[in-house]
Amino acid sequence: MQIERDQDKCNYCMLCVRDCITGVWQDVEGVPTPGRPELCNLCSHCVAVCPVDAIIHKGLPDNGELAAVSRDMLDPDVYREVVKTRRSIREYKQKQVSVETVESIIDLARFSPTASNSQHVEYIVVTDPNILQTVSEHVFLFGENLYKWYNSGLGRALFRIFGNIGAVKKLSGYMNAMDYYIERHREGKDYILHNAPVLILVCAPSGETFGVDNCNIAASNIMNYSHALGLGTCCIGFLTVMLKYSRKLRKLLQLPNNRTVHASLVLGYPAYSHKYDVQRQLPRTTWLE
Ligand SMILES: Cc1cc2nc3c(=O)[nH]c(=O)nc-3n(C[C@H](O)[C@H](O)[C@H](O)COP(=O)(O)O)c2cc1C
Repeated sequence: MQIERDQDKCNYCMLCVRDCITGVWQDVEGVPTPGRPELCNLCSHCVAVCPVDAIIHKGLPDNGELAAVSRDMLDPDVYREVVKTRRSIREYKQKQVSVETVESIIDLARFSPTASNSQHVEYIVVTDPNILQTVSEHVFLFGENLYKWYNSGLGRALFRIFGNIGAVKKLSGYMNAMDYYIERHREGKDYILHNAPVLILVCAPSGETFGVDNCNIAASNIMNYSHALGLGTCCIGFLTVMLKYSRKLRKLLQLPNNRTVHASLVLGYPAYSHKYDVQRQLPRTTWLE
């Protein structure tokens, strides 16, 4: 990795050394020195922090050209409003989201943090209505079949025995309402992808220790930024879970065998808006002081 210090510009402030977590930049007798370039994880911090543009990093895209930070644009009240007023949207207008808009949302998500700056988060964007409908039907059918089994003698017995386990309890809740869901599904309601025009699968190479974290941080940014753009999203946990087990779904969504989806999001223009924000429990926080 070619990382250099322009000694004519350098003011020896050592911020590059202080901000380099991997140890590329070291203080060698008062001179900031890129002594271990092989340790660089391309986080760009050294270039971003240098107040006098003295760092030349040839390993970064565009030779490390970065945009200046404008702190004036950071408004905590606006940010709070975005986070507090984002809702899971389960009814969408029949209006397409442009490719440019989806691209701009994913483009922002790539600035989300990833462990060791791995940047291994990938996206599959589905807008084909046939694929969306097939995915939805497949997941719902699984629920219907589970419901049939739940109503069988063995299903009932097992649900009774394991009923106190969190996930089984939650599933029982859905099963108890399944008659209603099936009826409304017959009338055309899409309980899985909510008839959204876009599905975004956020995935990482399988087996990556922080794949779940990296994908879900990116997913959060997608949800918040989409909301700020006037779009709505909904996280589809049912699909994320099913993609772990259903070969048919993985094939339909062209998900490679060595990739795992950790977040599934639908996206579109909300059919209606919420007048108020929502109530949430107070945080259960333990302070060790
Ligand atoms: C990991 C995760 C999985 C979810 N799965 C689904 C889902 O499969 N279908 C759905 O309609 N909503 C799903 N949701 C949305 C939640 O139900 C929703 O976030 C919650 O009720 C709070 O509402 P809000 O998002 O409007 O604040 C999921 C949310 C998360 C974070």
